[in-house]
Amino acid sequence: MSHEDWHARWREGRIGFHEGAPNALLVRFLDRLGLAPGGRIFLPLCGKAEDLSWLRAGGFDVAGCDLSRFALDQVFAREGLSPVVTDGAVTRIEAERLTLFEGDFFDLEAPTLGPVDAVFDRAAMVALPDDLRGDYVRHLSRLAGGAPILLVTFDYDPARMEGPPFVVTAAEVEARYGATHDIERLSSEPLAGILAERSGGGREEGWLLTRR
Ligand SMILES: C[S@@+](CC[C@H](N)C(=O)[O-])C[C@H]1O[C@@H](n2cnc3c(N)ncnc32)[C@H](O)[C@@H]1O
Repeated sequence: MSHEDWHARWREGRIGFHEGAPNALLVRFLDRLGLAPGGRIFLPLCGKAEDLSWLRAGGFDVAGCDLSRFALDQVFAREGLSPVVTDGAVTRIEAERLTLFEGDFFDLEAPTLGPVDAVFDRAAMVALPDDLRGDYVRHLSRLAGGAPILLVTFDYDPARMEGPPFVVTAAEVEARYGATHDIERLSSEPLAGILAERSGGGREEGWLLTRR
């Protein structure tokens, strides 16, 4: 999908990926990220995920990045915040313990993002096609530094459904992260809801990636 395709999805409300509640695997496994109170967590390709609000309410410092200003503005509105906006290669939109970057994830550099203590990747890696996922993992690893990553993936028969979300198998997680991270599979559950229907079955998996 092109950037314009994503913008069109947001404009037209075709956002079936938006959960409208904190992600169950985030809630279940947040403690495994070892975040100290006030620690900073980064959500790449964050959309307007409720996870941003849930983490902020939990006392953490939250950062995210998305192409869609339309989505990011809704997060600040939901939080009742009037952010300060600073233009740059990516636009920095910032208020109390919430910093969202509008622009291409690949244009967000580590000094602009700032320190990161943990990463939550839900519907980010799997939103990108195979030919972008290698660059995505390398760039995310640069941004994350030594921080652990909680990753959510989907595994299903690609003949049954065209992504996004794309299939990311256990073998791919190993191939893309195995040289730099210790990998622990935290959960593997049957897909539910619309994704289960569209894909004819499959699994949602949660991973803890710890930098060696
Ligand atoms: C499948 S949605 C997931 C959103 C969010 N993580 C969630 O769980 O609801 C993928 C998001 O990635 C954003 N996106 C796609 N390509 C991007 C890129 N290159 N840079 C920044 N954001 C991007 C889209 O605008 C969209 O909001």
